[in-house]
Amino acid sequence: MLIRPPADILPSEITDPDVYRARRRFIAQAGGLALATALPAGHAHAALGPLVASPLSTTEGQTSRKAVTTYNNFYELGTDKSDPAENTHRLKPAPWQLRIEGLVNKPRSFGIDEILKLAPLEERIYRMRCVEGWSMVIPWVGIPLATLLKQADPQGSAKYVEFVSHYDKTTMTRGVLDWPYTEGLRLDEARHPLTLLAVGLYGDVLPVQNGAPVRLVVPWKYGFKSGKSIVAIRLVEKQPVTAWMKAGPSEYGFYSNVNPDVDHPRWSQATERRIGEFSKRKTLMYNGYADQVAAMYSGMDLRRFF
Ligand code: MTE
Repeated sequence: MLIRPPADILPSEITDPDVYRARRRFIAQAGGLALATALPAGHAHAALGPLVASPLSTTEGQTSRKAVTTYNNFYELGTDKSDPAENTHRLKPAPWQLRIEGLVNKPRSFGIDEILKLAPLEERIYRMRCVEGWSMVIPWVGIPLATLLKQADPQGSAKYVEFVSHYDKTTMTRGVLDWPYTEGLRLDEARHPLTLLAVGLYGDVLPVQNGAPVRLVVPWKYGFKSGKSIVAIRLVEKQPVTAWMKAGPSEYGFYSNVNPDVDHPRWSQATERRIGEFSKRKTLMYNGYADQVAAMYSGMDLRRFF
């Protein structure tokens, strides 16, 4: 099938704390700068700021920027881990419009600059667990998705949210999945305070390979639920069928909550390899976010709703 089991990572990709601290100082000094909006592809490290530190962040060591930006899954830009960073010219992150449509009283479109004005930009350091068995700790920059959803005023009949990624068949991968890449959440999951609409990482504008200019981050679910380069958010009544559910219904369920007790049909999900570490670690229920999210699934059979 399409998603592959774990691959090995070089130990040299571990975070260098000195480099990281130096960057933080630079970003703090640049804090008075106007917000940077999406820059032309290939433009290196445009700082976003000022940033609010989030209490929802983990204090675990961060994965190196190099690993976060060169070891990617973004199949529209190629299926090898190194492809997305090499094929950034295939996606132009500016100008960009993100539509909110479907069961909302105020359907509308947002430019990236409009999204940046909705709420103070937060730095959220989250664990990210890929279904393939590797994980990272990534300092995202963004706003709560709930803030954006509120702008559109969802109707009472809206129960689910569908996310549609940008797709251009003239420049992007053909085949592999039924494009565009679509993902979905239940409305309460989409409104959960942990669910982030990310516009940056490591204090800078989001690189193309990580889903520029705007992507979802849902840290208690496998990484594939966090759609990249989103162009539409659709409020719907029925549970959407996502691109991965279409590709492999027995392997990829709608919920896809990180769960060490429910294996992928072809490999165990009990452990993971944190990029930059030598030995494996145990995967935590809901990727370590159980205190915040478990209540949303109380009474549900998690083997059935995987
Ligand atoms: N979004 C789109 N549009 N296309 C993709 O191929 N891959 C998913 C997810 N979002 C993917 C996507 C998977 S499998 C993972 S693990 C994460 O993005 C990886 O995000 P990262 O490369 O920023 O770490």
